[in-house]
Order: sequence, then C-alpha cells, then structure tokens
Amino acid sequence: MARVAQFVVSGLLAATVANGQSFDGTSRSEDAFSYVQPENTTILGPYGHSPAVLPSPNATGTGEWKEAYAKAQEFVAKLTIDEKADMVTGQPGPCVGNIVAIPRLGFPGLCLQDGPLAIRVADYASVFAAGVTVASTWDRDLLYERGYAMGQEFKAKGAHVALSPVAGPLGRSAYAGRNWEGFAADPYLTGVAMEKTIRGHQDAGVQATPKHFIGNEQETQRNPTYNPNGTLTDVIQEALSSNIDDRTMHELYLWPFANAVRAQAASFMCAYQRLNGSYACENSKALNGLLKEELGFQGYVMSDWGGTHSGVSSIEGGLDMNMPGGLGAYGKTPGVGSFFGKNVTYAVNNGTVDESRVDDMIIRIMTPYYWLGQDEDYPEVDPSSADLNTFSPRSTWIREFNLTGERSRDVRGDHAELIRKLAAEATVLLKNEKQALPLKAPKNIAIFGNDAGENTMGAVNEATFEFGNLAAGGGSGTGRFTYLVSPLEAIKTRAKEDDALVQYFLNNTQIATNNVTDLWVPATPDACLVFLKTWAEEGADREHLTVDYNGNEVVESVAKSCNNTIVITHSSGINVLPWANHPNVTAILAAHYPGQEAGNSIVDVLYGDVNPAGHLPYTIAKNATDYNAPPTTELSTDGTHDWQSWFDEKLEIDYRYFDAKNISVQYEFGFGLSYTTFSISDINAEQVAESIPSIPEDQPIQPGGNPALWETIYNVTVAVTNSGDVKGATVPQLYVTFPDSTPEGTPPKQLRGFEKVSLAPGESRTVGFELMRRDLSYWDIVSQKWLVPEGEFVLSVGFSSRDLKEVAKITPVSV
Ligand code: BGC
Repeated sequence: MARVAQFVVSGLLAATVANGQSFDGTSRSEDAFSYVQPENTTILGPYGHSPAVLPSPNATGTGEWKEAYAKAQEFVAKLTIDEKADMVTGQPGPCVGNIVAIPRLGFPGLCLQDGPLAIRVADYASVFAAGVTVASTWDRDLLYERGYAMGQEFKAKGAHVALSPVAGPLGRSAYAGRNWEGFAADPYLTGVAMEKTIRGHQDAGVQATPKHFIGNEQETQRNPTYNPNGTLTDVIQEALSSNIDDRTMHELYLWPFANAVRAQAASFMCAYQRLNGSYACENSKALNGLLKEELGFQGYVMSDWGGTHSGVSSIEGGLDMNMPGGLGAYGKTPGVGSFFGKNVTYAVNNGTVDESRVDDMIIRIMTPYYWLGQDEDYPEVDPSSADLNTFSPRSTWIREFNLTGERSRDVRGDHAELIRKLAAEATVLLKNEKQALPLKAPKNIAIFGNDAGENTMGAVNEATFEFGNLAAGGGSGTGRFTYLVSPLEAIKTRAKEDDALVQYFLNNTQIATNNVTDLWVPATPDACLVFLKTWAEEGADREHLTVDYNGNEVVESVAKSCNNTIVITHSSGINVLPWANHPNVTAILAAHYPGQEAGNSIVDVLYGDVNPAGHLPYTIAKNATDYNAPPTTELSTDGTHDWQSWFDEKLEIDYRYFDAKNISVQYEFGFGLSYTTFSISDINAEQVAESIPSIPEDQPIQPGGNPALWETIYNVTVAVTNSGDVKGATVPQLYVTFPDSTPEGTPPKQLRGFEKVSLAPGESRTVGFELMRRDLSYWDIVSQKWLVPEGEFVLSVGFSSRDLKEVAKITPVSV
C-alpha cells in the first residue's frame, strides 16, 4: 500500500516521499476501515502542494473597524522593538495564553482562555452545552444566546480573548476526537453556528477566535514526533499533512470560516497539522492567500499551542501571534521556548524581517481590542485563574503579572436556565413508538446505565470515567463543573410528583451479564430508561463508533425483558445503534454533551415539558464500516514526511457521501422527531436580484470576501403546519441540487437554508429562506471565482436530508 507522492514544503523545498498507509484497522475490532490508498501512485498535483503567497497583506481598517484601526496605528507607533516582540509572543502567566502588559501605555496585556463550551480555567463559571449539542438545535437565536452568555462569563473573569468557536474539525471523519467541539458535518450549518456564536461572544465584549484553521480533521499525529534525546527542533516525523484540493477547500472547509470572517471575528487560530505539505501556521497560501486576501480578514492569526515551527517563515506566511510563546529561544515545549520573542527583535534588527510586517501584526492584534472597547473599564483577570492553570503554573512564569482583581468571582448569573433550555431544545428524538414518550406519570421507573448517576471523577473531565454522567468531552474544550445535575437526581426529583417507585442499576457489567428481571422489583417497570455514554477528547481519535462501557449489551439485556426500553445517549456525536430497530426499544434520544444541567434538560424532554425539536447535525449510518474518510492512523514507513492524509473523498463527507453512493442509513442528516407532527406545503421561489450573471460582480473585498457573494438572490418560502395536537417546533431545511452543468463531484444535494419554527396545534406559518449568491455557486478552480452554473437548480424543502416534501425549480442564469 505504498504510495509515492511529490509535494512541496512551504512552496520552497521539493521532496519525494514514500507514503505507506495502512488502513486495515485490525486493531479496531468492529470498525474495520475500508479505505485503501492506490498503490505507487505519483501525485504531482493538483493538491498536496502549497504555493507561496507573499507578502502578508496589511490590515486596512475597513468598515466598522476604521476608528479602532487608527487607534491601533497610534499605539504601535509608540512601541519599542522589544515591546513589539512582546506584543506578538505569548508568555506563561495566569491565563492559558498571555500577552504581557505595557504599563507605560496603559495597556493591561491580554488574557486568552479556552474554550468552546466554557471558560475552562476558572471557578464559579458555567459549563454550557457543547458545539455538537447546540448545533442540534438548528436554532439561530439559541446559538447567539449561548455565544453571548459565554462571552459575558469570559469578560467577567477578565479574559479578553475566548478561544472559541470551532469549525475545524468540520467532521470529515466520524472518528475525529474533537468533532464535538465543533458544530456539524456540514459547512452551511457550521457556518451559521460560527457566525451566531462569534457575534454573541463579541457583542458581550470578548474577542472570538475561530479555530483551527484549517484542515484540522483528526487528532492522530496532529503534532510532529520529536526525538526525545535530540535538540529542541529535532523532528523524527513531521505532523500529518491534510492534503485538500482547491475546490474542496473552498466549498467545504473554508466555507464556515468565511462566515466567521464576515462576523468580524477578532482573531483566528491556525491548526497544528500541515496543510498540503506546509505547517498550517506558516502556510502562506492559507493565511495570506485565503484568509487575509480572499476573505479580507482584518484581525490577527494566533498559533495553536506549540503549533509554530519557524520564526521568519511563519511571520512572512501570515502568523501574527505565537502561542503560548515563552522566552524567545527556539523550542518545542509549550511555555519554554518560542520562535518569536527575542528572535523577532533580532530579525528586525538584522533586516531579515521588515519592521512594517511586525507593525501590521500588532495593528491586527490591537484593532479588535479597541473596536470592542477593551481599553475601557475591562474587568481584571481573576487571580483564581492563575491557581487553576495547570498549563503554565506560577512556577513557570518568567514575567510579572499583577493580579489585583477580586478572586473567585461568580460569573454564572442566571445562565443555568439558558443551559437547561439549550440542552433540552438540542435533544434529538430518533425513535418514538407505542407512544413511549412523553412519559405519562409512570409509577414504576427503572434507570439503567453508568451514565445516569453522579459524576464520580471531580470537576474537570480529564479522562473517561466509568461511573457518572458524561456532560462534556475532554481536553482544552472541556469545562470545570461547579455542579452537575445528573439524570438520576433529576428523575428522582420529578418522579416524586407521581409518587413513583424509582429503582436504579448503574453498573453496566452487572446489567449486561444478569437477567434484569432478577434485579427489579416487583414487576416489569412502566418505563426502563437506559443511559449510555461515549467519551471523546482532544489528542486522540475515537477507537470505535459504538457507545462505551458495553452499552450495546446493556440495551440488549434490558430490552430482552422490558418492552418499554427508552435509550438516552450522552455522546460526542456519531454512534452506530445496532439495537435501533429492536421492537422493545421504544424510544431513543440523542442528548450529546448537554453541560451542567444534563439531568434537568433530559427530564424536561422525557416528561414533555419541552417538546423535542433537535435534528441530527450528522448522519447515523447502519454500520461503522459505512463511513468513509477514516483518520490516517497507522504508517508502515518512518520517513520524516510520511504522514499524509489525502482528502480524496473531496466534497463527499457525511450525507453528501451517503447520498452520492446511495447508501441507506439508520438516521439521516437533519433527522429528528417531535411529540407532534408537521406538514410542509406551498413552496415558492422568487428571484430577488434583477439579473443573475454567472460571474459575480468584483466588489472591493470586505470581511467575508467579495460582498457580492453574500447578496440575497432568491427568496424561497414554504408554509409549515403543526398537524398534531401539541405545541412544538420543527426545522424545515432547504437542500439545493445543482444543475448538470456544474463540474463533476458536486454532491447530489447540499444544505443551503434552515429555519426553526414553533407552532401551536393547527397553526400554520410561512417560513422564508434567503439564498445568497454563494449558496448557488461552486468554486471554479480555473477562474478562481464562485460561479453560478447555468441550467436548472432543484430546491427541495423538508424535515431532513432524506425527507423532502416540496420541490421548486429555478434557472437563475439566463443564457
Ligand atoms: C488546542 C487549542 C487550545 C489550546 C490552548 C491546544 O492544544 O488545540 O484548541 O485552545 O491548546 O489550550
């Protein structure tokens, strides 16, 4: 399975690598991979190669950022060269990332904190629902509200920069360890989620950091392997290279990041791994070309932690801030060394780097700071952060941090209410037969599974734990719980209202290996609630797609004797559910990672106080082997550059792949039931733009790119009716099928609109979708433009990607 590939590193160094990748998956018992690289194929392009795009474009201070840009210019003019080096280099300190203060200019420094579901290094802060969870709401307002509430907490703790949200990974592979930090395996839904979250964070006054840019689709070999006995830069094997072709880059991976730029995100975090042969944090095509030029990004690019692999090349390649930085000597160990720091001073003094480039880096850093008013009355860093920060404990500090703010400030406000609501609205009802749900005051409830009870492993999820409710994943994207309401606790409280008997069995081994009729008393329970969990964390890809801790056996054991088995999963995302069609499994709820109110939010859904309206942000296949694009996990060669991941499936990830290959699935992308029923009728598509030429007008670039791409050119409406007898919400979804004239490889249908609508029984409402030019365009690799293809488009609206009810046909481009 060896493959020889010719590629270029940093656009400078040509190399030939032997790339033997073994995907036989023998170590993965039930999830064998089928992906095999073609033998001895020579790849000379079109990808696996990253051209140089130089110089790094200067910020111009367009639009709303004009005044702040002028202030940033004034600020930079007052700095010495050493201060400039400080401004672009992190230091060990109280926060996960720190830029030191410059007291003589009244600049308090910057505090950067993780992460995408909570301010992690903090006490008395909330743990919100994870990205995958909130994406399951398909609710623009809730996405914004969550972003805003999180932003409030970051700010109140004195963090200037939130290392959130995540659009990379996007979800190319079902196995990727960090998919749950991001939103959906679809660029459109992720794009909306990015935009809403960023606007929320920044409206609350904190800088957002969309990450990880770009191609960060797996954990395995995300960083290089260093020689443990060698010098600090002695690399045995470089990090994985995500090799992505230009069209796939634009239509899939760059898409949601374009929304992020358009939402005026302050900063971007570049990814650990290589992209088309060069490290993402020095990839000038990605940072200078795509991000700063094409998308008109005006903010700054910070490196992922330890993701900087050069000084001058990174600076020229578009990197503006090195994190976590350190002393300024070459180094790989976080917090110890930095390719920036003192090296920036040297490089400017000896003429290797033009000082104007360093000035631009600082202008980019300071413009959003002024724009968000962070120079006025910003809360001081909470000193408790310094005590909790295991990343750079006080013993590692080199510079002084003056922590005079009030310690352990409680910043949670009334966010618990929102978190409860969010997670309930995000719960996806996958199956509901024999009217199992909502529960009707059951008198005898049995609860099963090690996910149901109290968390037994403390406040922070650092590793998987057998006993206790799982409400967040692990790594830098986790949160520190001040409390967690377990499902067991919440059900016990609720069941008291019905004077019900609540019995519980929390040991999966016991349940799986015993006859459950020997466990419960006195008779078969009215409802058997089975709580299952699936762990995922940063730094590791998932070993399998099944639920953890013998979850399948637990379900089988309970369902064997209980004809009303209701399964609830707390999971990082995709699980194959081999028992989904078991006749005694009457209901299935996917609750993902709900955050601190886990128990309350699931009780709200189980008892019908909240009518579930969540929809899947990915596909649940019938078998694990049905998924394509597995992570690159094993190499049979040990060459320095051998870790290559060829994104050969191109645009076909998740539902696009299952649709293109006509594979039947268990639950499709966009699927989700309700306690009521809905119908859709009366589709109407109206052209809004007077005429629609195939080529967009070339307007001056604004954040988000050519503004013409964001102009609404069609309005589509449908009538949605609640045809059942309880109040509920649903999410009509619009999918576009491109005309035959579109280049080969275009997925059969692509999500291009959705809108959540809440309706009383019998109520009907018109729901509108605005189609922008980008929505009806493909990326033309020849002209390097988004083009609307000639011919007839099919617009389908329904309740999931495979439950399409209404169809309209349009021909936007007149020939
Ligand atoms: C992660 C980032 C995170 C950073 C700081 C890195 O390992 O990839 O997402 O923000 O650490 O904790």
